[in-house]
Amino acid sequence: MLSATAVPQAAVPTQRRDLRTLPNPPAVPASGLLGLLSEMRDDPIGLFSRAHREHGDVVSMRMFNQHIVTIANPEHWQHVLVSHREQYAKRTRGYEKLKLFLGDGLVTSEGAHWRRQRRIAQPAFNRKRIATFAASMGAASLDMRAIWQQSAARGEERDIAADMMKLTLRIAGETLFSLNISDEAAEVGAALGVVLHAFDRITTAPVPFPERWPTAANRKMRKAIATLNKVVEDIIAQRRAADARGEASQEDLLGALMAARDEDTGEAMDDKQLRDEVMTMLLAGHETTANALAWTLHLLSTHPEIAQAVVAEIEANVAGEVPQLSELCKLPLLDQVMNESMRLFPPVWIIGRRAEQDDEIGGFLIKKGTYVYMPAYVLHRHPDNWREPERFDPSRFSAERVAERKEQGVHRFAFLPFSGGQRKCIGDQFARMETALALATLLPAVQLTPLAGRPVVPDPQLTLRPLGGLPMRLSERT
Ligand code: HEM
Repeated sequence: MLSATAVPQAAVPTQRRDLRTLPNPPAVPASGLLGLLSEMRDDPIGLFSRAHREHGDVVSMRMFNQHIVTIANPEHWQHVLVSHREQYAKRTRGYEKLKLFLGDGLVTSEGAHWRRQRRIAQPAFNRKRIATFAASMGAASLDMRAIWQQSAARGEERDIAADMMKLTLRIAGETLFSLNISDEAAEVGAALGVVLHAFDRITTAPVPFPERWPTAANRKMRKAIATLNKVVEDIIAQRRAADARGEASQEDLLGALMAARDEDTGEAMDDKQLRDEVMTMLLAGHETTANALAWTLHLLSTHPEIAQAVVAEIEANVAGEVPQLSELCKLPLLDQVMNESMRLFPPVWIIGRRAEQDDEIGGFLIKKGTYVYMPAYVLHRHPDNWREPERFDPSRFSAERVAERKEQGVHRFAFLPFSGGQRKCIGDQFARMETALALATLLPAVQLTPLAGRPVVPDPQLTLRPLGGLPMRLSERT
């Protein structure tokens, strides 16, 4: 393969001059000093949806002194994520801020470092390895089910979103480090909450936020990061000590990452790399999956006839209280429901990249340095690719309908909850298994009823959460 420096020198300026003659993408009208920044802060989903509805698939928006571009066409997503990926870096403001917390883990690193870490981590996520996590996932779901049954017997209300966050945090702790961090869960959960909240605040602030300022909020964030660092560093130190004593390695993700060696160099990860990867997986793995579960439960609670059919499917095909892995493939309706839920409410509702050189997307000039945003929320509701896109219709993901869409030429990137290309989510199979096991364990146990007069609206932060939680009434299933 030619290296970048091997490109003939004359070719670059010619190509750049040609691109600069292209038109800029249509812009959403913006007035005042801040441009669309307030709308971006108050209702980003509304803004991105309106931008694409009114101005097409490639749209520019001014936020204060910065022009960003947003794209909603699956072919353009493929351009950025696959065919021209070398030209688009993860150097957005959001990812730069995430680095404060995640260091150089898989989500935030790039280039040779990322490639090496991904190569080392990949085997830890193969099907055989993640199948060993089914028992933890099942046991944690069963405990949540018992709690729900007690609440149902008393006809109580619960915040289902908070419950899903607890469930996935417990699963993350057990599968990552074989520890029930329930003991530390209050501390870990609270610290994660502070960091996530701070992250939301600094990425939506009108001007870059200096994290070094000794404000109360910054001190709180730094304290929370220190708490999480201590938990993770202690766990790594204990594991190193156990290894030194010759005690058997644990069959968890940390064990797999510690045992992994770079195929080319034979090197293992050092403590800093392990810390960054473990922190990354703790964050990337639990909040996303919790939101996928919460949105699915919300949609099923508002579509009782579909919920009934899913429960019937589970009861007909799952013998015990918790499904065996071999039984999951007998639950196609549940699988369709999960896909349709991630279509309507993608937990990672937007991703971003920075153009590292001039480029063309859809006939428009994308100038070097432009932030290019890809809102999955809008992609997944694009009327060219989805009939009645706002409707919850799990049968869109039946084998026949998927084949039909393919025949009609709908691009495979029209549905992309885990992203695509080489930076695709490493935990997609893990998350799919976890959500299926949890739902198949929880759903037959209780009836979930939404609270009358309390609309559920998305809160697009780092992930897409239900605003203010998801309170529901629990009752025994009749
Ligand atoms: C429903 C649950 C999940 C969703 C919707 C989701 C979604 C995503 C998306 C969209 C990306 C790409 C971000 C980008 O390119 O900018 C990503 C990356 C990533 N996810 Fe997930 N994720 C989920 C669960 C998990 C789990 C369970 C883990 C780990 C246990 C995980 C670990 C990661 C990592 C490490 C990356 C970075 C991969 C790389 O760049 O090499 N995710 N995820």
